[in-house]
Amino acid sequence: MFAVNGEEVCGLVEPGCGLSSVRAKARRLLNASGIDNLARTEILTIINELGMNILRHAGSGEICLKIVGCGGRRGIFIVANDSGPGIGDLEAALQPGFSEDKGLGLGLAAIHRLSDEVRIATLIPHGTRVEVFKWIS
Ligand SMILES: Nc1ncnc2c1ncn2[C@@H]1O[C@H](COP(=O)(O)OP(=O)(O)OP(=O)(O)O)[C@@H](O)[C@H]1O
Ligand SMILES: [Mg+2]
Repeated sequence: MFAVNGEEVCGLVEPGCGLSSVRAKARRLLNASGIDNLARTEILTIINELGMNILRHAGSGEICLKIVGCGGRRGIFIVANDSGPGIGDLEAALQPGFSEDKGLGLGLAAIHRLSDEVRIATLIPHGTRVEVFKWIS
């Protein structure tokens, strides 16, 4: 569907290093893409929530992102993958305020609000994959 017009960057999310690798790579990619500050902040927020969920609920994983082009417009495609326990009740997990871990339960809701499309595939006890697409121009 989308023609790739940029490199893909990936960073591990793991205890100790946390999100530092993926955050640094994302910043570089976003700076090079010349997108506006609001979209940049929103994308970094999405990456932060995806990464915090990996650290908190799955332990470790990976986040990749790339700029894609479609019909003269550009978007960003972000994929977060982990091999954690999976999400037991996905419908409940998507409700704002639902948390299985004494969190605020707002992370997945925020990701939806800031994105144009979100797809979650989760398999107990094998892991979770969250795909996010957001238009940037
Ligand atoms: N990668 C994941 N692996 C396993 N479970 C997950 C994962 N991501 C989210 N969840 C489940 O979905 C629930 C809702 O996630 P969400 O990010 O909305 O809230 P939270 O992480 O609990 O709190 P907050 O993000 O507000 O600090 C989590 O409590 C957890 O049970
Ligand atoms: Mg969260």
